[in-house]
Amino acid sequence: MTEVAKSPRASSRRALLDAASLAWDTEAFFAARQAELGDPFWIELPGLGPVLVSGHPDAARELFSAPPDTFVPLPNNPVEPLLGSHSVLLLSGERHKKERKLMGAPFNGDRMRAYGEIMCERTRAAMAPILPHSAFDLQKVMQQVALEVILHAVLGMRADDRGRAMRQAISSMLAAYVPALLVVPALRRGMFGAGPWDRFTKARDASMALLRAEIRHRRDQDPDDAGDDILSLLVRARYDDGSLLTDDELVDEARTLIVAGHDTTMTALVWAARYTLATPSTLAALSAELMPHGPRPSAAVLADLTYLGAICNESLRLHPVVPIVPRLAVKAFSFRGQALEAGQAVALATTLLHRHEPEWAEPHTWKPERFLTEKFGPFVFAPFGGGARRCIGAAFGAYQMRMVLGTFFAGAHYEPIAEPPPRRTLGGITMGPATSITVIRGRSPQVDLR
Ligand code: HEM
Repeated sequence: MTEVAKSPRASSRRALLDAASLAWDTEAFFAARQAELGDPFWIELPGLGPVLVSGHPDAARELFSAPPDTFVPLPNNPVEPLLGSHSVLLLSGERHKKERKLMGAPFNGDRMRAYGEIMCERTRAAMAPILPHSAFDLQKVMQQVALEVILHAVLGMRADDRGRAMRQAISSMLAAYVPALLVVPALRRGMFGAGPWDRFTKARDASMALLRAEIRHRRDQDPDDAGDDILSLLVRARYDDGSLLTDDELVDEARTLIVAGHDTTMTALVWAARYTLATPSTLAALSAELMPHGPRPSAAVLADLTYLGAICNESLRLHPVVPIVPRLAVKAFSFRGQALEAGQAVALATTLLHRHEPEWAEPHTWKPERFLTEKFGPFVFAPFGGGARRCIGAAFGAYQMRMVLGTFFAGAHYEPIAEPPPRRTLGGITMGPATSITVIRGRSPQVDLR
């Protein structure tokens, strides 16, 4: 029987407490709420109000199979300042459908595979300065690789002055969007030029000015000389009625692809590398798979390695980097037996879905082998969300994980990690390790990584 879902009365104190707990340890917060209140359960978020959350496969089925016009994205989305109001992530209805169609085209299989060698090359370049026996910060290396790859794919950026300026501007914008701005909407206002919001808007405006210059450059270009980066394709792309994207739309979509495409992949790579180094059996199985292909396996080889693929999937299962997939109902909708009205918000907690029993055996254990013997459906394993809003860059992100991780482990040896897993905290738009992860490069064969 379907009960009518009664959302709790909005309370700003409760919302701040929930947001702080969610940011502190995302996985622990959802697990504790589910254990205490059952499934589904209500949480409250600042600026969003009550949200009905579930981690059950039925919830995934209901959310992803519902007609697309059942939902819109949540209002007051905390990532809007980073992405802009024209971002596909924030659009709804027909406009969302049309924009997704235009933006999805550059991510088709053949085009994406063309980026494979660049992904491997940028990984080797990031590793080259790390000498045997020296320690390095895993996040920093993976962030450099992920940012380089996305700037190359979206903007065609090279290692020249233009590329360096853009890289600097985007990194500053991302660093300035500190977690406090993400979870406390009241902080998103100017404080006479000296507050965190002022620092963020200054960095954001600088990167937007560079993006506008890139768009102007492409609009002025002879079509025969146009590059094949994603922005060049979007500048020329036409809706079904023949119209083009405006400059404002292009700026917001370019920053959406850059932000959504690199923070996610970087965090996923950090988790995957960390668990591989912390689990001797995983490291041994991956080394055995990579060994026959030498220290510089090609993109085509890496695309086919099954254990490497299993490591990527297990990492996205155990710590899904986007831990919550939210929607706002604009029509009546039944969610886990509760009748929701238009205006009520729901979310799927993938941290819970990916540990739901009996679908997942030994759900809290790192075990890539499970992906070698079993197939998991889209309502059980959903690291890229699902339905009409499923991640546009899913194939690109999954492919990049293989390329970078394979190149990273084929090119050098590393000391195993003995420390327990760090806390999972919400920083930026993803759930990553709360503390930095230091890795020591071992006494590797003297491979020239350049
Ligand atoms: C491991 C890497 C990645 C993960 C785990 C990830 C995860 C996600 C998730 C969970 C969503 C929300 C889906 C939903 O609401 O159902 C999403 C949306 C999105 N992602 Fe990704 N993503 C990754 C990489 C990328 C890349 C590489 C790009 C582009 C270059 C990208 C672009 C987007 C966009 C544009 C959306 C919004 C789609 C829409 O609202 O229609 N993502 N992603």
